[in-house]
Amino acid sequence: MQQRQLGQTNISTSVIGLGTWAIGGWMWGGLSSEEEAISAIQTSLDYGVNLIDTAPVYGFGLAEEIVGKAIASRRDQVILATKCGLVWHLEKGNHFFTSAGHQVHRYLGKDSIRYEVEQSLKRLKIDYIDLYQTHWQDGTTKISETMETLLELKKEGKIRAIGVSNVTVGELEKYLQAGTVVSAQEKFSMLDRGIETELLPYCQNNHISMLSYSPLALGLLSGKISLDRQFTGDDQRKNHPRFNEQNRRKIAAMLDEFRPIAEKYSISIAQLVIAWTVAQPGITVALCGARTPTQATENAKAGQISLTTEELTQIQKILQVHLSDSSL
Ligand SMILES: NC(=O)c1ccc[n+]([C@@H]2O[C@H](COP(=O)([O-])OP(=O)(O)OC[C@H]3O[C@@H](n4cnc5c(N)ncnc54)[C@H](OP(=O)(O)O)[C@@H]3O)[C@@H](O)[C@H]2O)c1
Repeated sequence: MQQRQLGQTNISTSVIGLGTWAIGGWMWGGLSSEEEAISAIQTSLDYGVNLIDTAPVYGFGLAEEIVGKAIASRRDQVILATKCGLVWHLEKGNHFFTSAGHQVHRYLGKDSIRYEVEQSLKRLKIDYIDLYQTHWQDGTTKISETMETLLELKKEGKIRAIGVSNVTVGELEKYLQAGTVVSAQEKFSMLDRGIETELLPYCQNNHISMLSYSPLALGLLSGKISLDRQFTGDDQRKNHPRFNEQNRRKIAAMLDEFRPIAEKYSISIAQLVIAWTVAQPGITVALCGARTPTQATENAKAGQISLTTEELTQIQKILQVHLSDSSL
């Protein structure tokens, strides 16, 4: 497993991180089995993943609780990353969405963060968080107040490092004026490359690690979403335009062109896509969601693959041909 430095800290992270949004079940059609979720987390650790990303909102506490159980006897092997700022215990800040009977607000005020950190520590059954990230930005609280709170938590030993997520360059500048930021967590995949124009270069120039989320585009780039795969319950992919039949065909045609490279390394399409992600300039970690030990193993093993410059150029050419149609 390749390792990289997190920001300018002495924390070394595996290039593959495990994302636990789907593990909470919420927006993914429900939790299939807690046992399987725990096994997926532990298998990731077995295969060299040390970064586990979670959030209070994933399953409204459930994902954190499951992560807590999974890492209980292996705390020292884990860089535990969780988040604050998507709250349902109060109605302050900006209303973001209503789901599962909860009114979720984006709020990063001092009292709320202090409440959230204690809840997370309790659910995770740990006494410090390695990376504490602001999940979404609030707009009603001054970033300097949010940073002041995070710096206090760091001083108190409740968190080791501060990260942000879903930020603009302007917001990140304000965070840096008020304190330190080691990482940004943003959507990035072959289909989502918006950060490449501004945010990613800014992070590179400021030694901020980039944790890419949804690197498999919610599974669409795994090469395993067949035309007849149905999404049920609250699975966000049920009515997602990207998952309509026409786009599934387009993606399948594109992924087919990657096969010769994947075959050369005897790896799956999902592994090739993940290896491509962590090979992109400025991308530190691919946070891959996995719900089963099989997916966790496959994704973790992608951290052993280093694609050559020629292969990366070849992939870029294929992407250009297939993704010129913006409807994807
Ligand atoms: N900061 C934020 O706002 C934010 C937003 C989104 C995500 N994230 C973080 O990033 C993590 C990853 O993103 P994500 O979960 O949204 O999307 P993702 O990693 O692109 O896709 C995850 C889904 O793809 C499928 N999958 C994963 N590995 C596979 C494999 N090897 N073969 C076949 N299918 C596979 C699984 O779904 P099925 O098995 O059901 O098909 C899995 O739930 C999250 O868990 C979360 O920690 C953060």
